[in-house]
Amino acid sequence: YIRYHGLLLPPVAHTMKSLEFAQNFAVQDSDVFAVTYPKSGTIWMQEILPLVLNGGDLTPIHTIPNWDRVPWLEESRLASVVDQLVSPRALVSHFPYNLMPPSFSTSKAKVIYVMRNPKDLVVSSYYFHQMAEFLEDPGTFDEFVDKFLEGRVLFGKWTDHMKSWMNAELGDRIMYITYEDMLQDLPAAVRRISNFLGRNHSEEVIQKIAEHCSFKAMKTNTMSNFSLVPKIYMDNDKSHFFRKGIAGDWKNHFNSEQLARFTSVIQKELEGESFSLPWNMD
Ligand code: A3P
Repeated sequence: YIRYHGLLLPPVAHTMKSLEFAQNFAVQDSDVFAVTYPKSGTIWMQEILPLVLNGGDLTPIHTIPNWDRVPWLEESRLASVVDQLVSPRALVSHFPYNLMPPSFSTSKAKVIYVMRNPKDLVVSSYYFHQMAEFLEDPGTFDEFVDKFLEGRVLFGKWTDHMKSWMNAELGDRIMYITYEDMLQDLPAAVRRISNFLGRNHSEEVIQKIAEHCSFKAMKTNTMSNFSLVPKIYMDNDKSHFFRKGIAGDWKNHFNSEQLARFTSVIQKELEGESFSLPWNMD
């Protein structure tokens, strides 16, 4: 892994050059970032964003792989595609707030911060580590939970990521949404995103976007389901990127001791914060 400002970042796509490129990136006022802690629904928002920005034109999601369509701020691909991006540009990032480029702070660019129940994202991450050959073996689930709680995982501690963005004070430049909100009512989530971005799309457009961003539609879209990635990087025989797409799978993985440990660490780390978590943590 690469170490960057105390965080572990995955190799291959992240290089010191790409991180420097991200720091010097000239953010435009019209840019929109989908920011997440890994496994919170990044690729889902990556699919929704350009459709909201282009009024539901499906061409990009069926012709351009997601990593070029909505590039990662911190990954090396950005330098190759940046000149082809048309304004308003959509980007994704796993950066905590403090690692965003200086030009982001001075811009009017917007952010959609997607968060997910940490118990489910640790399960999702556990399986992702099994299939992503560029990541280290997660070990047992028990070991992986410990690593997660100690922040010895990609992009560091979940609680630090949450604190950085929840306290970012970006006013109307930031919208918070949960993975669970999106699961419960995707058209309502798309409507919120559309209003946040000043696109008051018709109900017909909202429904169309939601339909094309369902789990089933994305899982079968070769431009979004990572089937174009060679097996040496992602092995679909071990697990799938589009694995289950549900809330509450943690119940099939945590024993009572792990749950108590998990809850107590998370609650302790968030003690005194001015925000509260949108999930029942017990
Ligand atoms: P699971 O492993 O729990 O299935 P990220 O994109 O941040 O890496 O997050 C990946 C998780 O989001 C995976 O969770 C994946 O299945 C889920 N996901 C992606 N698109 C989805 C969709 N359209 N509906 C529901 N879940 C989705």
